[in-house]
Amino acid sequence: MTEPQPPSPTLPSPIAIDGPAASGKTTLGRAFAGRFGYRFLDTGLMYRAFTLAALREGIGADDEAACEALAGRLDLRVEAEEDTRILLDGKDVTSELRSPDVERNVSPYSAVPGVRSALVRLQREVAADGPWVLAGRDIGTVVLPNAPLKFYLEASAEARAERRARQSGEWGQAQTAAESKGDINSRDAIDSTRKASPLEPAPDAIRIDTTELTLDEVITLAFSHIPAPEEGGGEDNRGASEQNAAARTEPRPRNATGDRSKGERKEGRIGRLLAPITRRLSWEPFVRPFYWFCVHGLRVILWVLGRWKAVGRENIPASGPLIVVSNHLNNADPPILASGIARRQVRFMAKIELFKMPFGAIIRLYGAFPVRRFDADLAAMLHAERLLKRGGVLGMFPEGTRSRTGKVGRPHPGTALIALHTGAPILPCAIVGTEQLGNPLNVLRKPRIEVRMGKLIEVEAVRRPTEEQVSELTDRIFAAITALLPEHYVEAYTGSNGQNSSRK
Ligand code: CDP
Repeated sequence: MTEPQPPSPTLPSPIAIDGPAASGKTTLGRAFAGRFGYRFLDTGLMYRAFTLAALREGIGADDEAACEALAGRLDLRVEAEEDTRILLDGKDVTSELRSPDVERNVSPYSAVPGVRSALVRLQREVAADGPWVLAGRDIGTVVLPNAPLKFYLEASAEARAERRARQSGEWGQAQTAAESKGDINSRDAIDSTRKASPLEPAPDAIRIDTTELTLDEVITLAFSHIPAPEEGGGEDNRGASEQNAAARTEPRPRNATGDRSKGERKEGRIGRLLAPITRRLSWEPFVRPFYWFCVHGLRVILWVLGRWKAVGRENIPASGPLIVVSNHLNNADPPILASGIARRQVRFMAKIELFKMPFGAIIRLYGAFPVRRFDADLAAMLHAERLLKRGGVLGMFPEGTRSRTGKVGRPHPGTALIALHTGAPILPCAIVGTEQLGNPLNVLRKPRIEVRMGKLIEVEAVRRPTEEQVSELTDRIFAAITALLPEHYVEAYTGSNGQNSSRK
């Protein structure tokens, strides 16, 4: 993980993280604290501390009046920095709050309305100022309904039980996954059906299903909703955060409203005029017909112009996931490559700047999706992996940008990473001749344009690829593309990922 940064006035605060037992709230809360300087309040520990106190005094959860009285007189103090510690009667009891006794009893006590109102009051007092992250069950809905950034984490019961069993060992309470599952299920049932503030996602919460994600992926995904310093409008953190979220996910992300991507924010006058329409428009129904219209239209044009060739089509698998990679010389490359492939629809990953209106309409209609280059754009990676898992074809220009010299540059590792995560085979391609299209007069000279498709690179899926595996596959991709190119397109790469010879 990266180094802590000092709290900044542009940070959205407070952040609410809700979700069922063992969904990863605490880990994410701590990560926010460690990375951005938030203070982290794990409100679950407060309910656990109340439970410990009630058990010590022999008060049952069914005695609501006694519980309420105890909540009123309880000397419960919270120390919250990067982590949360709880003091009961001046004594640190944090290490006792994960005991099986507390674990089994906490949900019934937490359902008592008088207990909740006392603890909610305390939580609001604690988190009154400074950048805060609060984790719990009702933070986004009841404790801090106006929080500018809310997350709701979820995961399958099996995944959560496995994680909790692992944690229970670390807490000295070794449990099997089956035991953890029993505890988790019964707490989930009480927490989500109780009358007072049941567990439920706030309507404006960003929902993250963590079942299939690694810890780093969840954290990176959540962090992508924090605006970069230059994007954070001090007064309108919500807007900045949402815009940032939109920029890092799909053109129309499901979980953020008012979704303006960075590309859109830079759009010109026509774009701004069109914005109210384009933001509401769902491009998806038009993508397929538009795509095939372009592919076949362009094939006719190229055929008329003559001097166009697509070779190696027999290497394209008829079905199943596929990553098409190619060198990149001109903005016309994606449609030309698509026309070369012809028999399968390719979804291209395209730099976010291209989504500016009005040109962005063509990109969207073409079915492309945005990526922030030079960033670890996890949302784009996840989108790509979902597409492949559905058996789709992903198009990538692994150099990340067009080559200015015509010579191929070193690919970024993103392609290899996606391939290794999904096990999708890679079709290496080479485009030759489109660099001449930079000068429109050259079109009249009928430039020779070729799409060459090489032999498939088979990839075995790896859950957590190592740096060596990624680098080795990146080298293979580079070698396969260069093997298809005429010699003068190839220069010995220097490990600089081609940016020396590329245009931004
Ligand atoms: O760590 P884990 O997700 O297993 O639980 P926790 O966050 O420590 O919360 C323990 C229990 O406290 C939950 O099962 C809820 O019954 C209760 N709780 C609540 O009702 N409201 C909150 N804001 C936080 C926790």
